[in-house]
Amino acid sequence: MYLYMSGLEVNKILASIIFAVLIVTLIGHFGDLLIDTEHHDQKETAYKIDVEELAITDGTVAKKEEIIEPISALLASASMENGEKLFKKCATCHNYEKGGANKVGPQLWNLINRPKANVEGFAYSKALAEYGGEWGYEELAEFLYKPKKYIKGTKMNFAGLKKVKDRADLVYFLRAQSDSPVPLP
Ligand code: HEC
Repeated sequence: MYLYMSGLEVNKILASIIFAVLIVTLIGHFGDLLIDTEHHDQKETAYKIDVEELAITDGTVAKKEEIIEPISALLASASMENGEKLFKKCATCHNYEKGGANKVGPQLWNLINRPKANVEGFAYSKALAEYGGEWGYEELAEFLYKPKKYIKGTKMNFAGLKKVKDRADLVYFLRAQSDSPVPLP
């Protein structure tokens, strides 16, 4: 009897221990759950930052492409010498002399304020032929920044001049290729 009681006591103690272990295990699990939730939150936060960074990158790219600095203010102090040097990039495809022949591209004599796509005998792309307007200082400079973006579908294969000073110098040089250069803006 005593032994049996004792066995009962032992059983009770064992039961308590098992219960305690169970509770600890449960709390542990609950803790894991909490930690898991935190993990999840952290992952989500990281993801959100990524998206924001992407958005910032996108914004910067868009900004770079959209803001094309105007050249007008730089023309008065532009360098004819640098402009002539830069024209070497164009010379494989363009003449600029009076009466110069068309090459891969049309001749560029008297270009400033010249109507777009008006050189006799040159087969312009549909995109440029139908674009309309004249080659004013800023139009020309914006075109030269990224020709394929300014006139989608142009067949002028030239990446563009990214530096505003280069565009100003080159346009300044082209302006001089005329019997009566258009006044500076
Ligand atoms: C790989 C050849 C090539 C290079 C390099 C090139 N162009 Fe052109 N360019 C063309 C072609 C081809 C056209 C006609 C585009 C069309 O019809 O869509 C053209 C058209 C033009 C026009 C429009 C003329 C008009 O009559 O409306 C201008 C302005 C022009 N180019 C300026 C330049 C300048 C300035 C450079 C140098 C920075 C340059 N191009 C470099 C091939 C070239």
